[in-house]
Amino acid sequence: MLLLSQFLKHQNTPDDLVELTDTLMVACKEIAIQLREGALAGILGTSEEVNVQGETQKKLDIISNDILKAVLLDNPLVAGVASEEEEEPVAGNPNGKYLVTFDPLDGSSNIDINVSVGTIFSILECPEGMSGGDEAAFLQAGRKQVASGYVLYGTCAVLTLTTGNGVNMFTLSHTGDFILTRENVQIPEQTQEFAINMSNQRFWEPAMQNYVSDLLLGEEGPLGKRYNMRWVASMVAEVHRVLTRGGIFMYPWDKRAPEKPGKLRLMYEGNPMSWLIEQAGGRSTTCYKDILDVEPDKIHQRVAVALGSKQEVTTMMAYHGEK
Ligand code: AHG
Ligand code: MN
Ligand code: MN
Repeated sequence: MLLLSQFLKHQNTPDDLVELTDTLMVACKEIAIQLREGALAGILGTSEEVNVQGETQKKLDIISNDILKAVLLDNPLVAGVASEEEEEPVAGNPNGKYLVTFDPLDGSSNIDINVSVGTIFSILECPEGMSGGDEAAFLQAGRKQVASGYVLYGTCAVLTLTTGNGVNMFTLSHTGDFILTRENVQIPEQTQEFAINMSNQRFWEPAMQNYVSDLLLGEEGPLGKRYNMRWVASMVAEVHRVLTRGGIFMYPWDKRAPEKPGKLRLMYEGNPMSWLIEQAGGRSTTCYKDILDVEPDKIHQRVAVALGSKQEVTTMMAYHGEK
């Protein structure tokens, strides 16, 4: 039985990053406990608040955000945090080394129906001479991440983490420890499973419409195989499925909001998930370029996302003009 911190030390992870990961997991354990109580703790349902993205916040969005913020800002390693649920970054220790971005609760429309949700996070180094309360400090491409991952609160709670040495999974035990349960995760290169919100089909670009139409044609179409479809409406759950048994997950640009590049957010959804996918041998793209190469210009910037099994993502890219 290898505990999270033991495993990270084996991988020669810097001590301060091991400590910060442990701190993050203190918060995630608390979120897991709150989620388990559900209606008993009166925490289900919608709050009166609307976040910076114009979305109505669930009570648990706010609770999870408060837990993460309090626990992280208490650690002197943290120079600042940025969250889906906070308009501006929040400064921590002026001498802190790290910045943390997070989606405190992803898939929160699933809370009230008792379906999987998760916490997504990304850790960056705070650039020399910048404050962690300053948006500019966070505006680094995904390739600069020093750790990224998520905790999926499903039938069990699982941390999936990368620090650039592959992807590993840790299950939360009844003793409150995250224990290594899957080492060096590799995504199967081929797949016959796709995930996309089909109700938006008529709003996509022609290239995406053509690709998905061909998926639906199955063995009689140009792709020559029958596909299956899944949609959980929690990115964490979709990415976890892709990391476990392969697949392609897409949230493309669509013309419901043509001025936005996509629905998902780059700094705390697109980047952390893309690094996990690449580290597990998969591919992650905006449909035109690697998500990890996108240079951010706002903390809440959105991005089109297509990620998963390498060969399937490459097939999808060909429809978008990749030679
Ligand atoms: P969040 O709950 O953090 O706002 O994110 C929800 C995201 C993502 O998890 C999921 O893939 C997608 O929104 C679901 O979109 P639909 O509402 O189109 O199903
Ligand atoms: Mn989300
Ligand atoms: Mn969220």
